[in-house]
Amino acid sequence: MPVFIKNESTKPISISALHNDAENLLKICRRTDRELSILLIDDQRMTELNSQYRNRNKPTNVLSFPLSDDSNDNLLGDIVISLDTARQEAQLKNITMHKRLQTLLVHGLVHLLGYDHERSVQEALDMEKKERKLLAQLARRKSMIQLAINVDHVATLRQARGIDEPDPVLAAGICELAGAAGIVAHLREDRRHMQDRDIILLRQTVKTKLNLEMGADEEIIKIALDLKPDMVTLVPEKRKELTTEGGLDVAGQKKKLSEVIIRMTETGIPVSLFIDPDSSQIQAAKEINATFVEIHTGRYADALSEEEADREFTLIAESAEEAFESGLRVNAGHGLNYRNSARVAALGTIEELSIGHAVMARAIMVGLDQAVREMKALLPS
Ligand code: PXP
Repeated sequence: MPVFIKNESTKPISISALHNDAENLLKICRRTDRELSILLIDDQRMTELNSQYRNRNKPTNVLSFPLSDDSNDNLLGDIVISLDTARQEAQLKNITMHKRLQTLLVHGLVHLLGYDHERSVQEALDMEKKERKLLAQLARRKSMIQLAINVDHVATLRQARGIDEPDPVLAAGICELAGAAGIVAHLREDRRHMQDRDIILLRQTVKTKLNLEMGADEEIIKIALDLKPDMVTLVPEKRKELTTEGGLDVAGQKKKLSEVIIRMTETGIPVSLFIDPDSSQIQAAKEINATFVEIHTGRYADALSEEEADREFTLIAESAEEAFESGLRVNAGHGLNYRNSARVAALGTIEELSIGHAVMARAIMVGLDQAVREMKALLPS
């Protein structure tokens, strides 16, 4: 999906944000197989182009030169922007230059997609609507990725001694102070780590967002409905597994999961479904009205070779894209650590990473506050 940007104006500007926006817009428009070229020029050159192609002897802010869909060279077209006019408009509207360039880029792109506001009033309205939608989609993609910390492992250590330390509730507070945007805790049917007392206290003390991870088991469902965490993540739960091993088979148990989602939604609790990066699971999650999916990153994290990691990463990227575009909110987690998280976080479609083991393992060495801050620093802001 190459985006080529050339600055032929006399003004230096940083093009990385514009490049990023252009790439994201191609993804949103599903035109990643096409090349887009963006040329930045001064008013003087824009006046020449405007008079040559539109017979208007004055500068304008943006011109688009589409290339036909059936051309073999995979080019979507050229967008030409005058930095002089863009800057004047930014000042007039009291917005940043980047914001103005973003709007002009969207306008130019929508022209390349075949819209033309000069043909009729209806087309002008359609084009304006399309631009507003693209800008909103772009903003959603660009929002900062959040870090949620899973504190189960603190409880595992406590349970190993059968005493009351270390306390996952205190750990959750430290994680929040270090910048975690949410706390995740899994109340398992066998209570192997988190206890009911922990979840009750977390509900009372977590200031950011409490995500209760749980199997679709009636006893735990009742606890969730009673405590009302900020969200729940439904996971498959087998007593013998060490940790959650695979994603939920949503497609195979739509009726059961849909009933849980209805009960949670009636109580105001959004539901996330922990799924493998698989299109049929995403479609099923959408059908039964889940709010989120959490994409299982375990196979990517456990890959034994670079090729395998690349393959698994591609599956995650494509699934996150499909879920995002279908309107689902997208989280990801499992096995993420200080080496493999940044790549997933950079996708632009994932809202939150749920990380436990790697942060707690590092916390033993450097302290929990620092371990959380170091992980946060690796994610794009
Ligand atoms: N997401 C889910 C659904 C999980 O079950 C777990 C493990 O408890 C995590 C994320 C976090 O995984 P890890 O501890 O490997 O970071």
